[in-house]
Amino acid sequence: MTEASRRKMESMEQFLGVKVHLYEKTDSTNLRAKEYVQALIEKKNTDRINEIFLADQQTEGRGRLGRSWQSPPETGIWMSYLTNPNVPADKISCVTLLAAMGIARTVKFYSLKRSIFNVDAKIKWPNDIIINGKKICGILSELVTDPDTGMNYVICGIGINVNTRSFDTEECRYASSLYRESGITWDREELTFGVIYNIKEFMRSFEIEKGLEFIVPDYNNMLVNKDQEVILSSMNPEIQAGLEPRYIARGIDKTGALLVENSAGEIIPITSGEVSVRGLYGYT
Ligand code: BTN
Repeated sequence: MTEASRRKMESMEQFLGVKVHLYEKTDSTNLRAKEYVQALIEKKNTDRINEIFLADQQTEGRGRLGRSWQSPPETGIWMSYLTNPNVPADKISCVTLLAAMGIARTVKFYSLKRSIFNVDAKIKWPNDIIINGKKICGILSELVTDPDTGMNYVICGIGINVNTRSFDTEECRYASSLYRESGITWDREELTFGVIYNIKEFMRSFEIEKGLEFIVPDYNNMLVNKDQEVILSSMNPEIQAGLEPRYIARGIDKTGALLVENSAGEIIPITSGEVSVRGLYGYT
């Protein structure tokens, strides 16, 4: 990271009212944020927190389901958004959906501003951003609860493949980058500011509204497999045994659950816990 971009980040801290912890190289921004939360818990913190852990490169980037996340230098946005929203514990998982909305909206606005019309950002509930059927961003959210105060800290780890030129053969089947989908090099700094700004704004409304009702229509417009057939799967054999071969995804409800319709026309809410969603053909 150049001195100029470090200075720009610092003025962004003032402008957006968030603290940014910058790393040229670190193992994982989620781990840095976790360490920080432990220190807050030891200090018996009761303040509201909105802080960012941002790295140019991660040496041990972590993905969901124990996978690794390739985070080479200066190609993507590798960051963790740490927050402790003042909402009941059962609403904490909504943070991932708000982050996905913030990212998708930022990509859309950036494309509009530059007349880049070959990228239409969609959300694959609940963790991924998709462009042209390929994953350009993943979210790994982790929860840490203060055992004494019950305060919930959410670490929302965001990996956006921005200017990545190539992926290894296996990844290439489903992963892509903004550059590969648009043919244009994107400004990582501008995108980072936009993502932080939009997530913070969504978080603010979420705390005021104490729910997700305000984003449901926009979210469903961006849902990649809305009104399409999907296959649900679970690592948990008991849940898997109860699943039908196919459902139709109808959109999220105000709790953030994905509503799917079974063959009998019944609507079933799926919470983001143990079920993953796939389209019939390919990744989405
Ligand atoms: C996924 O598997 O789709 C989630 C990927 C999340 C990657 C990001 S990069 C920043 C943060 N730090 C990590 O180690 N992982 C997340």
